[in-house]
Amino acid sequence: MYQTIQILHSYWAYLVLLILVLATFNALFKFFGNKEFHAKDFRISLFALIVTHIQLLLGLILYFVSPFGFKNISANGMGGLDSFSRLLAVEHPFVGILAVVCITIGYSKHKKKLTSKPKFKMLAIFYTIGLLSVLSRIPWSNWLN
Ligand code: HEM
Repeated sequence: MYQTIQILHSYWAYLVLLILVLATFNALFKFFGNKEFHAKDFRISLFALIVTHIQLLLGLILYFVSPFGFKNISANGMGGLDSFSRLLAVEHPFVGILAVVCITIGYSKHKKKLTSKPKFKMLAIFYTIGLLSVLSRIPWSNWLN
């Protein structure tokens, strides 16, 4: 169970980053370029929302089955974690959840706007914050080894 979820979460992360980067840059370029909002802009922002929600779900399960998540905190206490263990057990999950919340807010706010510029603005702001937050707390050394 642990290994399956760990592998899924690890590989799904490539898709999350790819789509999130595409959706964020799409919104930024089209906001600053004053472009019209088309169906494909809607689709890419929705796709980014869906893949990040799936990652959230995998992450939440992983948090409770991994020895580096909740189990590590219960075994050693917060004070007993070194900085890398804290990244895995606290910072990465917490910031991951905040990033997904941010992306969800951006998506729902953009849907309520009726014209192109404000739609791109909401996506550009919230997806950028989400993307940067995720990037700031990925356990890179674990992942890419
Ligand atoms: C939303 C964007 C997220 C991305 C892109 C992401 C990506 C990753 C990556 C790349 C790793 C390292 C995998 C490896 O070492 O092979 C990882 C580990 C981990 N993630 Fe996430 N994650 C996200 C959200 C979350 C959330 C929301 C949680 C929990 C609530 C979570 C819990 C964990 C845990 C506990 C680990 C360490 C697991 C282990 O090595 O046993 N992640 N994540």
